[in-house]
Amino acid sequence: MESIQATKQRFGIIGNDPKLNRAIEKAIQVAPTDISVLVTGESGVGKESIPKIIHALSHRKHHKYIAVNCGAIPEGTIDSELFGHEKGAFTGATSTRSGYFEVADGGTIFLDEVGELPLPTQVRLLRVLENGEFLKVGSSKLQKTDVRIVAATNVKMVEAIEKGKFREDLFYRLSTVDINLPPLRERSEDIHLLFRKFASDFAQKYKMPTVRLDEQAISLLLQYRWSGNIRQLRNVAEQISVLETERNINYTTLKNYLPNMGGNLPAVIGAKKTESDFSNEREILYKVLFDMQRDVNDLKKLTMELMNSNSASTVKEENSSLINKIYSKEHNHEEQLAAIVEDEYAEESAKVEVLNISETPEQKPSNYDFAEEIEEEENLSLHEKELELIKKSLEKYKGKRKDAADELGISERTLYRKIKQYNL
Ligand SMILES: Nc1ncnc2c1ncn2[C@@H]1O[C@H](COP(=O)(O)OP(=O)(O)O)[C@@H](O)[C@H]1O
Ligand SMILES: [Mg+2]
Repeated sequence: MESIQATKQRFGIIGNDPKLNRAIEKAIQVAPTDISVLVTGESGVGKESIPKIIHALSHRKHHKYIAVNCGAIPEGTIDSELFGHEKGAFTGATSTRSGYFEVADGGTIFLDEVGELPLPTQVRLLRVLENGEFLKVGSSKLQKTDVRIVAATNVKMVEAIEKGKFREDLFYRLSTVDINLPPLRERSEDIHLLFRKFASDFAQKYKMPTVRLDEQAISLLLQYRWSGNIRQLRNVAEQISVLETERNINYTTLKNYLPNMGGNLPAVIGAKKTESDFSNEREILYKVLFDMQRDVNDLKKLTMELMNSNSASTVKEENSSLINKIYSKEHNHEEQLAAIVEDEYAEESAKVEVLNISETPEQKPSNYDFAEEIEEEENLSLHEKELELIKKSLEKYKGKRKDAADELGISERTLYRKIKQYNL
């Protein structure tokens, strides 16, 4: 059996905490079986390594490993993503499509954030776990598959079950073996070790000397709550590595990078104290949200003007720059967000990831566009304003899309997409 140390090395796992070691040991032990495993632990504790270990050390290693982020796929499409669909099963289903359970036959599927699965999907999942049978959406032909499931969650499943959000039978089926990863604050021996590792990685990446913590800074590192766990620690190490010119870091400097420790972070962050997976990525997201809010206000203004004006040309002249700004590429939040995420957190944002552990190159299904996801979460009022604006424009040009699109400063294709999206 592969040793814990060797496995840690192979998967880039740092730390010597006994609970961490036990988790890795359990993963090694269950790997050769087909037992379903539920990985639990707070956000950022490193849950994603466990299914990779299990797959790589199993007889399934030459088949596919597909990681699905259940929380990131819209409810309406998740069944079709997982189980595939038949041509004509729903509007837009122009051809038959294989789902992950078909594609990963013989391999492993990692269902991340499994607590987010909608109830109807839970029923389908239970069935495939029980006898390997599933139906494509819109099909009545039973299909068989042989997939090993590893699931992960950071939500309290018992609570979810009590609230009727998660099926108890499915929970027991998924958690035949439970692997828990401890929060970073309980791994006091590992915190400084991890910091040093990240600091050295970032020093290499940015070609700068490695930052070092003095005694007091180290004790602060150990006292801190780390609600975003290792992900947060890595972000802090990166920020300090990039931003601090003095490479010896003292207590006061470190404190500035730790939210809730009197660091000078925006108030809005402080107000969100209770959230568990709070990290510095949020700061960037907030910034983008503020920008978005500004755009909503711009749009409001523009809509008001459009409503009060009956001459197309006035609007066009006065506001074409505004319209351009709002719709231009340079000011596209979806892209801004996508870029931020692509940079460091690509693997975390992707809804689906296919890992190729065996040597033979296999085809990678295209990753989903994070931008799509953001689009859905976009400020509702922004949508409303946009809808109003488009309606007005279409009315004014008596439904002539080309003219309306010109006025709105967007392409006809985008307008067409919006018309479909809003059912105009
Ligand atoms: N023990 C560890 N050693 C090194 N890096 C780690 C460790 N645990 C987690 N990480 C890193 O921290 C980040 C968050 O881990 P991830 O598995 O995505 O967390 P989770 O899925 O539990 O939210 C990843 O970039 C991961 O590589
Ligand atoms: Mg994760």
